[in-house]
Amino acid sequence: MKIGIIGAIEEEIKLLMEEIEILSEETIGKRTYYKGSLFGRQIILVYSRCGKVAAASTVTTLIQHYGVDLVLFTGVAGGGNSERKIGDVVIAKKLVQHDMDSTGIPGALRFEIPLLKKIYFETEPPLLKKAKESAEHYINHQLEKELDLKLLKEFNITVPKVVVGTIASGDQFISDRNKINALNSQIEDLQCVEMEGAAVAQICYEYGVSFVVFRVISDNADENAHYNIKRFLEKTAGYFTRGIIKQLISEL
Ligand code: ADE
Repeated sequence: MKIGIIGAIEEEIKLLMEEIEILSEETIGKRTYYKGSLFGRQIILVYSRCGKVAAASTVTTLIQHYGVDLVLFTGVAGGGNSERKIGDVVIAKKLVQHDMDSTGIPGALRFEIPLLKKIYFETEPPLLKKAKESAEHYINHQLEKELDLKLLKEFNITVPKVVVGTIASGDQFISDRNKINALNSQIEDLQCVEMEGAAVAQICYEYGVSFVVFRVISDNADENAHYNIKRFLEKTAGYFTRGIIKQLISEL
């Protein structure tokens, strides 16, 4: 099995870069794809840069050029409801593009992708289960060994939760309580917002390739979002993504 692993920004995959045994690297469309072995698996690792266009282009290259069978997308996200706290892990059960508005097209719904006639892209249930178990394993057995507990306190992290639910993606960094509340009222089971996952899910759906998108909450998509995401990326996010990916790919 060939696995493509994507994060949007360099910080999100930095610790994975330290682990990969690189066999070759190639730059296509201004992105560098690292092919090699990670935790005993054949993988291609890349950061896409932010947004749905960048993510769609990157995942298409992974599928068309590298022939991956599975795509894992990881990184940080803003909390999508009042229960989600910084440090929680969200595994996407389904993904939606929150900035798609098709209501001007007769008969189309708010988040529907025109012509494809789909709103949500769903993760295959066996992969969802494995991803959830991997995240729980990391949090219960590894997290405290790797992370400075003082740092966890700074973010008020006690024991992070792992939740399965809806991830909404759009070409907007959300830092407005009203905006996130409005999305929450329109999207069922909204757990977090980010800028790439649903684009990756759509491309994987179109090519018939399996995918898992999981995110660590770095902020609450409110007025403090910029500060919190910066701190969380600097000190914490990479440990979560490395730990969960390590566990997940060992189970595949
Ligand atoms: N990624 C992390 N936090 C985010 C936010 N608040 N909005 C969009 N993408 C994010």
